Amino acid sequence: MKRITLALTGASGMAYGLRLLECLLRTGCKVDLLLSQAARIVARQELDLQLPSGNAEVVEFFDKRYAGHKGKLAAYGKEEWFAPAASGSNPADAMVVCPCTMGSLAAIAHGLADNLIERAADVILKEKRPLILVARETPFSLIHLRNMTALAEAGATILPANPGFYHRPQNVEQVIDFIVARILDQLGIAHELMPRWGETPLT
Ligand SMILES: Cc1cc2nc3c(=O)[nH]c(=O)nc-3n(C[C@H](O)[C@H](O)[C@H](O)COP(=O)(O)O)c2cc1C
Repeated sequence: MKRITLALTGASGMAYGLRLLECLLRTGCKVDLLLSQAARIVARQELDLQLPSGNAEVVEFFDKRYAGHKGKLAAYGKEEWFAPAASGSNPADAMVVCPCTMGSLAAIAHGLADNLIERAADVILKEKRPLILVARETPFSLIHLRNMTALAEAGATILPANPGFYHRPQNVEQVIDFIVARILDQLGIAHELMPRWGETPLT
């Protein structure tokens, strides 16, 4: 069973992060969930979701929302330094920040480690495990691009939330699944979210 650290930060595209959480739990992954304060604001703005403030309540909320999925979920607060993700002695198999703000991306690029999301990403990089950043902003400034370059040089994968349309999505869920499928591919987790290019006729 894979253990994945999933951080939701306050960029637009919260639906990507929540669909990813659902898929990870559905495939039996153990997920350590980290939420920034801004992520809660965006969840309310974009999805009308009022995420509870306590960790136990967050777990209960998602257990109910994705009922029937056999994964194990834990949630940790921004300064919970005793969380497994905070130490290189207990790193997850991989970490995904989805969606990823330019602020969190900058902090990770510069090794600030000032909250648990930044520290967990710092740990994943130093332990040379996969770090996937689903960056969301448009257009990118030179600062954003330089930070992304630094992260790519440090071994992270920059997977921007820019879906393709060649699979002819019929609804927004299929647009979201395009990105989530690419993230699951990076994690090496099997899925059937959309047909693969060259396997099933897409016309
Ligand atoms: C509705 C909403 C959408 C936002 N979208 C983005 C975005 O797409 N990209 C981004 O970098 N910041 C975005 N922001 C701003 C970030 O939430 C803000 O910079 C915040 O301080 C980031 O904190 P965090 O990285 O700890 O989540 C958005 C804010 C709101 C309220």
